[in-house]
Amino acid sequence: LKIAVLASGSGSNLQSIIDAVERGSLEADIRLVLCNRSDAFALERAKKAGIPTATILHAGYENREAFDAAMIEQLQAAGADLIVLAGFMRLLTPLFIQTFSGRIINIHPALLPSFKGAHGIADAVDYGVKLAGCTVHFVDEIMDNGAIIAQAVVPFSSEESAEIVQKRVLSFEHRIYPQVLQWIATGRVTQDGRKVFVQDT
Ligand code: GRF
Repeated sequence: LKIAVLASGSGSNLQSIIDAVERGSLEADIRLVLCNRSDAFALERAKKAGIPTATILHAGYENREAFDAAMIEQLQAAGADLIVLAGFMRLLTPLFIQTFSGRIINIHPALLPSFKGAHGIADAVDYGVKLAGCTVHFVDEIMDNGAIIAQAVVPFSSEESAEIVQKRVLSFEHRIYPQVLQWIATGRVTQDGRKVFVQDT
């Protein structure tokens, strides 16, 4: 499976994917790590692993379509079959989504459809829920809306801070994201509308 990973920040999910490939538990070829910020630590992680990187600064483009067109060009040149969003903090345009239709996945730090948006963990903790979690889903034109592939439930106590909960949620993200990628790499994932099935091996 040829993948490209899009990240804006720390890239700990990218690291979990790199580690899974190096361990042999994920049969994927990371063709490109693309960031929209030059200070994204994800770039350092990619370089250390010998993975090609691209930095496309969204501020340099006059609108979202132009920014997305620049990304599409790089991603197609890299030969990516699957676009993996890992902490990529820009909304994608319909142009981008349609170009890679059905071939974009994202990880979100909450149990969707609850707590969509950029502050999933803090919103869940503030709401007072007793279970946090994370969701891997296909990306469609509506933010955090696409069909759900996998979720993990993450228990926490109301006394714990959002930071602690965030760390715990991340540790579950690092397990389920490479796992989902391996399911896709081995052709086990099928979809019927909103329902996603994972075939047994
Ligand atoms: C993760 O919490 C992910 O769920 C969200 O952004 C964060 C990215 O973290 N989409 P990292 O850059 O992978 O460490």
